[in-house]
Amino acid sequence: MNLLRTSLIATCVIAAPLAMAQNTGKLKVGLMLPYTGTYAALGTAIENGFRLFVAEQGGKIGGREIEYVKVDDESDPSKATDNVNKLVKRDHVDVLVGSVHSGVAMAMAKVAKDTNTLLIVPNAGADAVTGPMCAPNIFRSSFSSWQPAYAMGEVAAKKGAKKAVTITHKYAAGDESVRAFREAFEKGGGQVVKDLNLPFPGVEFQALLTEIAALKPDVVYTFFAGGAAVKFVKDYAAAGLKKSIPLYGAGFLTDGTLDAQGADADGLLTTLHYADSLNTPRDNSFRLAYAKTYKLQPDVYAVQGYDAAQILAIGTNAVKGDLNKKAEFAAAVEKTKIDSPRGAFMLSKAHNPVQDIYLRQVVGKENKMLSVASKALADPARGCKM
Ligand code: BEZ
Repeated sequence: MNLLRTSLIATCVIAAPLAMAQNTGKLKVGLMLPYTGTYAALGTAIENGFRLFVAEQGGKIGGREIEYVKVDDESDPSKATDNVNKLVKRDHVDVLVGSVHSGVAMAMAKVAKDTNTLLIVPNAGADAVTGPMCAPNIFRSSFSSWQPAYAMGEVAAKKGAKKAVTITHKYAAGDESVRAFREAFEKGGGQVVKDLNLPFPGVEFQALLTEIAALKPDVVYTFFAGGAAVKFVKDYAAAGLKKSIPLYGAGFLTDGTLDAQGADADGLLTTLHYADSLNTPRDNSFRLAYAKTYKLQPDVYAVQGYDAAQILAIGTNAVKGDLNKKAEFAAAVEKTKIDSPRGAFMLSKAHNPVQDIYLRQVVGKENKMLSVASKALADPARGCKM
């Protein structure tokens, strides 16, 4: 009996300094992002933004130095569970940051939920992440698929369009984006007459463009991003459609892509939670710092990476580096306004940004802000029980 008591006390004495050591040593950030494939540039921009914020804090968050463990998730959902399990169980990361592709992010959310690991999603819009999968340890610094698409549905209806065709990759983000566009567009009196799609990450658009030409809608709504967005915009113009049928998109269509799209993107209208010409002191200083550091102009992905690091810092500072204090971490993030380059925002109860969605137009190499299409738009968080 005494022996058992002594060994229990000994275990506690040994375990306590170990747990403390874990919270005062380096803070391990598992960056699970695409570094190859159609979304490669998006992953790099997110990492750049994240590192920029950390550098502005002198390389430390909550008093802890940052150590990065990186995985190229290749935007491949079939590899996602293995990849995230390695970060959690082999590398023992303190926080997961990822990913771009919604299918990958949903696998990450499941593992994060099952293992109670902190997860900050710096892009993927999958509605489920802050819907049915929502959890106290899961946060998103970006958007839900619903947000920019719903705003564009309202814009299209207000412009008087009656008949729309949608086109996207066939996966969660694409499906959700066109569904949200339809929801708002049909509420405003329009009708989506056809949903077209192709498997991710395919870029064989020709047959679908021929179908659009035959259907003659008033407007086409699209969700494509990265390399696929570049090719789609160029093919749409080359097919002669740009002159006759306005192409609207969630803003990923023209963000981080304008150099490659050139004149074919000129004039396109999109909706997103960021624009290149906000011209606020906060955004100007972010853009200057980003351009100086990376010799590149930032895009929405860079902003989302930067804000993912801000969310981590708000929570980690509140718990003085002790990430075991998950409830206190969440409480701090929930009550803090995040000072984003996009404009300050709060997270909803489901941990998704409540944010302005801008109507933008491509002018030269910029996504120029025309107006606020939807003020402080909150995702409906359907199915979130938290
Ligand atoms: C997504 O899969 O959720 C996504 C990918 C690229 C841009 C935006 C969303």
